[in-house]
Amino acid sequence: MTFLPGLDSEELPGPITGPIVVTGTDTGVGKTIVTAAIAAAATAAGQRVAVLKPAQTGTADGDEPDAVTVARLAEPAMTRTLASFPDPLAPLAAARVAGEDALTAVMAQLAARSIAEEHDVTLIEGAGGLLVPLGEGGWTVLDLAKALDATAVVVARAGLGTLNHTALTLESLARREVPALVVFGAWPADPELVHRTNLHDLDGDLAGAIPDGAGAMAGPLFRREAPHWLDPRLYGRFDPVAFRSHSR
Ligand SMILES: Nc1ncnc2c1ncn2[C@@H]1O[C@H](COP(=O)(O)OP(=O)(O)O)[C@@H](O)[C@H]1O
Ligand SMILES: [Mg+2]
Repeated sequence: MTFLPGLDSEELPGPITGPIVVTGTDTGVGKTIVTAAIAAAATAAGQRVAVLKPAQTGTADGDEPDAVTVARLAEPAMTRTLASFPDPLAPLAAARVAGEDALTAVMAQLAARSIAEEHDVTLIEGAGGLLVPLGEGGWTVLDLAKALDATAVVVARAGLGTLNHTALTLESLARREVPALVVFGAWPADPELVHRTNLHDLDGDLAGAIPDGAGAMAGPLFRREAPHWLDPRLYGRFDPVAFRSHSR
């Protein structure tokens, strides 16, 4: 693992193989920024990375679509969005309100599989949290992760409320036997008592922490820094044990 200078590669777990589904404990927790960070770290490690956003909603708001944000920050080999809807709603509701066909589970699975065949790393960003209805019949990102045999990355908030939301999300994943890692979407520069105690008590396998403010970085700086925020399973050199030692 030539991308881990300074560390003894024999002591480190290897990067995850197979698709990675990036989900979160809620909407607005930093899934897109975490997706961009993993894409940047894997690209820097020489991987051909694809990022798939099955369903993008809220396009009428004029906000940058998630795939565009990821492309700008990470410059992966490829980004693709399968379905876009104007209203800022869960994708199934957004399709219904728009009078359009919702994405089917089969379409999403076929797209993810064909992209995965052509790339070393395939990242799939959900919409909202794990159990949000994404398309026809109410399939969820949990269903997609299960169908693809993917590993889930659960993006969690750093502050108050995150212990419950993270535990609920991990319990749902475990019930379907989907392996999961946890990454903080925006870790504060000056952690307060609540952040340090959350770090101590958080369920799950911590695999990264994105510094608050990273989303506003220019692309070149973001790409240079991203490997420091993620552990070797996500193509970086973050050390969760050292990071957790700041908890109390
Ligand atoms: N590490 C971060 N630094 C700065 N801003 C962030 C960070 N993570 C998320 N944000 C901001 O928080 C908002 C929600 O993040 P986003 O990645 O879009 O969440 P999600 O994809 O989970 O809905 C965005 O405005 C984004 O720019
Ligand atoms: Mg997003």
